[in-house]
Amino acid sequence: MCQSDIHDFLQGLPKCEHHVHLEGCLTPDLIFELAEKNNVQLPNSPAYESVEALHDRYGHFSNLDDFLSFYFTGMSVLHHESDFADLAWSYFQKAHADGVHHAEVFFDPQVHRDRDIPYETIVAGFVAGCHRAEKELGLTTRLILCFVRHLPLDSAARVYDEALASKHFEDDVLHGLGWSSTEVGPPKDMFRTLYSSASARGIPLTAHAGEEGDASYISTALELGARRIDHGIRLVEDPALMERVAKEGVLLTVCPISNLQLRCVDDIAKVPIRKFLDAGVCFSINSDDPAYFGGYILDNYCAVQDAFSLSVGEWRVIAENSVRASWIGEERKTELLRRIDEYVQKYVVV
Ligand code: ADE
Ligand code: ZN
Repeated sequence: MCQSDIHDFLQGLPKCEHHVHLEGCLTPDLIFELAEKNNVQLPNSPAYESVEALHDRYGHFSNLDDFLSFYFTGMSVLHHESDFADLAWSYFQKAHADGVHHAEVFFDPQVHRDRDIPYETIVAGFVAGCHRAEKELGLTTRLILCFVRHLPLDSAARVYDEALASKHFEDDVLHGLGWSSTEVGPPKDMFRTLYSSASARGIPLTAHAGEEGDASYISTALELGARRIDHGIRLVEDPALMERVAKEGVLLTVCPISNLQLRCVDDIAKVPIRKFLDAGVCFSINSDDPAYFGGYILDNYCAVQDAFSLSVGEWRVIAENSVRASWIGEERKTELLRRIDEYVQKYVVV
């Protein structure tokens, strides 16, 4: 809970989340529980001695790659369709409690395919979680397949081919492609051919860029066809690019607590929220890997409020931009904008 007197307002404000990795919702409790159930040997290291030890270790990530090693180990406990479904459902319940009405969620099939989990098992499980959220919570969802930058390009091409062969983009099962994982190191444009193919098919594209890497990672992602940028905080280092991003209405999916935990900033106040607002850059506020960073979406809203003391009007702009930039139809956008309007009106009158 934040210090702010508008905490209740933030809690109830209708939200869209655009940047959360379903595998990043695996809590230490669930990792240990699934490891036991699925007979998975966790590493023989002090961090995995107990649930508490793992929690403690999560408080001391030194950078993105340090976090990623835990993230990829954690997801090795997922084996069955029901494991994937239950994980997604656990996230959607938390998101719903935080006032999320629409969620666009990432998953990393290459990493599971590397462990011989069938593509269908992964997708069917996550889709089951999404359908349950739609049916039981009225929360709309979009599922985004993420390529990972630390594995060979061939492995990304294989899951892309599996998604195409399954007709998952045509059939409304998958709604976009992204890339994530290690930013600095692999070639900036490693997914050029895959993004070019996906662009030609009209598949919506996003990309993690400008998290640890400088603004040139953002311009490369845009050049390859990304119409949204995940993180993007280093955009402020290139004013001309920032002007272009603002003009073209590219959405940045900003994750403040993640940036702090991965030491991209040393204080939430250094996340360029005020600069983005002033420059007219569209952004949403998101949780990224909530089970690893100790905060779901509302915690991120509260952290921003504590650091920037935004007005109700500014929060309204953030909420409305989040709706407008969502990968949903006009009818759902109108509905969500109406909910925000009613909510803000009521709050202002009270
Ligand atoms: N995969 C999961 N979380 C990530 C992050 N913050 N950056 C890059 N890849 C990720
Ligand atoms: Zn991410």
